[in-house]
Amino acid sequence: MITVALPKGRIANQTLEIFESVFKSEFKFEDRKLILNQGDFRFLMVRNQDIPAYVVEGAADVGVVGLDVLAEHRPDVVRLLDLKIGKCRICVGTVAGKEPDFTQPEIKVATKMPQIAREYFANHAIAAKIIKLYGSIELAPLIGLSDVIVDVVETGATMKQNGLTVTHTIMQSSAHLIANKSSYIVKKEAILDLYEKIASHVNG
Ligand code: PRP
Repeated sequence: MITVALPKGRIANQTLEIFESVFKSEFKFEDRKLILNQGDFRFLMVRNQDIPAYVVEGAADVGVVGLDVLAEHRPDVVRLLDLKIGKCRICVGTVAGKEPDFTQPEIKVATKMPQIAREYFANHAIAAKIIKLYGSIELAPLIGLSDVIVDVVETGATMKQNGLTVTHTIMQSSAHLIANKSSYIVKKEAILDLYEKIASHVNG
């Protein structure tokens, strides 16, 4: 039995579709249920940012998580495969036409990814004050809470509709399959079998 942690939302559904194609079986969560037991698998429906905790602690043997979440949390896990879904960019954004002066003493940065933001500005020798938020990041520069934001951009619609523009792309991200380190040893055969089947599907 392999326990798989999935990030609630579109990526969970797309991952289940991959499993359906690979294993020729229907994988569907009932309504609000958070666990799905089927065949050799147990799927867990988890909040995106919580995936590293489930996999690091061994509550899940494998998990699906964005590269951005791995960059933010740096969990000690085995990185197995790029699933090539959930593609997005992590960007610095600002009010359109109002690019801030990056040489000012302390630029205010609103973000839900403080680690990535801190590292990016440190690497560019920019003094930044990081303001950690949990959502609606695009609001911060509009009402003067911050000078810039560091956030996920997928279609760009949220930034555009709020009069923001991307000034820099920090990294590209997509969903990755990761494994718990001990599961990877104890259940090596099953995990490698899963890896190979999914890899050949994803890489066509
Ligand atoms: C992300 C991000 C933006 C939006 C970008 O939030 O914080 O608000 O998506 O997408 P777009 O470029 O296609 O408009 P998400 O919906 O993942 O919600 P969250 O804040 O709960 O993580």
